[in-house]
Amino acid sequence: MAIVVRENRFLLNTNNNSYAFCVDGAGYLRNLYWGKKINSIDEFEIDTINEVSTNDPVAEITNEEYPAHGSFRYKETCLKVQFGDGTREIRYQYVGHELKENHLKVNLKDENYGLEIELNYLVIEKLDLIERWTVVGNRGNQSIKIDSIYSAQVHIPENNLRFRNSFGHWGAEQQGFTQQVSHGKIYFENRRGVSTHNHNPYFILDKNADETNGEVYFGVLKQGGNFKGIIEQTQYGHTLVQMGLNDYDFQINLDSGEEFVTPKLVIGYSEKGLGNMSHRLHAYGNSIMRNPSTRKVLYNSWEATEFKVDANEQLKLAEKAAELGVELFVVDDGWFGRRDSINDGLGDWWVNKDKFPEGLKPLIDGVKKLGMDFGIWIEPEMVNPNADLYKNHPEWIYSSHVRTPEPSRGQLVLNLCKPEVTEFIYNMIDNLLGENDIDYIKWDVNRPISETGGDQSIWYTHIMKVYEIVDRIKAKHPKVLIEACASGGGRTDLQTLEYFDDFWTSDNTDALDRLTIQRTYSYVYPIKAMRAWVTDCPNFLSKRVIPLKFRYHSAMMGTLGIGCNILKFGETEKSLSKEMIAQYKEIREIVQNGEFHRLENRSTNTYEIFQYNHRDESLLYLFLPMTKIGHKGTNVKMRNLNPEKIYTYSLNGKEFKKSGNYLMNVGIEVKLEGDYSSTIIKFN
Ligand code: GLA
Repeated sequence: MAIVVRENRFLLNTNNNSYAFCVDGAGYLRNLYWGKKINSIDEFEIDTINEVSTNDPVAEITNEEYPAHGSFRYKETCLKVQFGDGTREIRYQYVGHELKENHLKVNLKDENYGLEIELNYLVIEKLDLIERWTVVGNRGNQSIKIDSIYSAQVHIPENNLRFRNSFGHWGAEQQGFTQQVSHGKIYFENRRGVSTHNHNPYFILDKNADETNGEVYFGVLKQGGNFKGIIEQTQYGHTLVQMGLNDYDFQINLDSGEEFVTPKLVIGYSEKGLGNMSHRLHAYGNSIMRNPSTRKVLYNSWEATEFKVDANEQLKLAEKAAELGVELFVVDDGWFGRRDSINDGLGDWWVNKDKFPEGLKPLIDGVKKLGMDFGIWIEPEMVNPNADLYKNHPEWIYSSHVRTPEPSRGQLVLNLCKPEVTEFIYNMIDNLLGENDIDYIKWDVNRPISETGGDQSIWYTHIMKVYEIVDRIKAKHPKVLIEACASGGGRTDLQTLEYFDDFWTSDNTDALDRLTIQRTYSYVYPIKAMRAWVTDCPNFLSKRVIPLKFRYHSAMMGTLGIGCNILKFGETEKSLSKEMIAQYKEIREIVQNGEFHRLENRSTNTYEIFQYNHRDESLLYLFLPMTKIGHKGTNVKMRNLNPEKIYTYSLNGKEFKKSGNYLMNVGIEVKLEGDYSSTIIKFN
């Protein structure tokens, strides 16, 4: 049984983990346990907690499931509201629960006001994960203002943990970091509204875990836009984590009878290190993706042509792309309005007649005739001040409408809280898809929100409206895949993955930088959604020149795309590209659907080693960016193979047959030579 309830005790069991809490004698909803699977909820001694001293009151020292502002609570709380009469303290009681299969709802009610709180726990047994979220309802006569609301709090009975997340900025997303948790608090958040390159909405906490061993506590918030996470090591040697909506410039009004549902926090515990955590999160990510189809090899001309797109040139590129084996041809920015630079066009979604005199049809027909799917770029949440849309509807942007609005990248943000704006965006995309045979959309967003005026719910509402539009589009055009791009990888989160199909991981396409970005990405997000392109060298950002093969191998770690100016390819580049794309097609089931491992490098040379397992096949990717003095090979011990199976693989032109047992324990010696050396080895 996934959930056992006995006399106000609740035990939530996944295949390998348990989570337990109770309503204690004093009425507190008290966390009892989170970790390896236990058998019984009856064995817990639930003694009464007495205050240690007047300065250590019960509310402060109880491990509450969902502490709310008020009483003797000085630690962080999950919910803060204002009632109609100005009261800000919440005093709730447990009033009951509802259990339906693997979904538990715990009902709490304020003693004096019409505030009801429902804590939700959904147990996903086979993934060893629990979804947690909270619903707040106003059953009173007066409105309630929510000043701060988190999805859940988790309680970890450990101190001095190590926190892991990513930091970064444009062109440098997913830079992993670790930070020691100690006394005081760690906040990580996004305040930019639409997206963030800075931090990602998850926590990973461990003491000394590595890829295969050690305890890891983790949680991923299913929320794009503004979020906040707080890690607080208490004075009593425990660690609390809260995640939910960012309370920065935030307020939501709940009228009588209304409800507010928080985003979900997906939590898990691993006793087998970070690898096991990633496998479960990848499986979860894959399970929420609406379109599980194999991702096609894509061509996108952005880096090659920027805004200089036109029908003839694009068709020439399409012909070359098809020759190389590309399956999906995407026209990026510049095809619409008077879009020759960042300063015009956004909002004017008519086809630019100078660039496409007969509309998009000839190009789309040409692409289809070449046997490829067709995709197109849009940035629907934005408008340029020069665009006709802005001239016709200056009131459609976020602005005080008293001050001069402040553009960024030459553009302003459309106010998606206005129904006429969301209708406009929905209709624009619906028409674009209705009038043209389009299979793929790259949905971009290139600046943060600002100038939100008086309404503090905008940060939350904007992103929810984006999802609502995508949802409607998907309902009407279910076969169309939509890529989430936000100046690169700014919109990489689990809620986006529930609506969109691919992440554009970063505008940084340098194959070496990408190894870092992709490694950190892989902690939480599934490989199938990780778009990666091969682009020209010197790379526009790093100015680095990296051999084409290494660039391919790096991009083949995810869903392969090509962003080179392929019209300039010579014979060598052409034939290598054909070979690499063909190889990718052969192995992509393993890459896109496989179990991904970040392997240990045992050499003094800095090899980056990754493994994918799918069914009874396996892939090893090895990268050696720079050979150093004393160069020797590396011993690679593979993971989670079938010990009995005899695997066949080729290395340096020679074929080998070894058991899974041998490959995992003795391992194989691989020696790469030179700088930017790389290889992919297939085991079957
Ligand atoms: C953003 C995206 C790029 C490209 C440009 C177009 O920067 O991340 O991939 O689409 O916009 O303007």
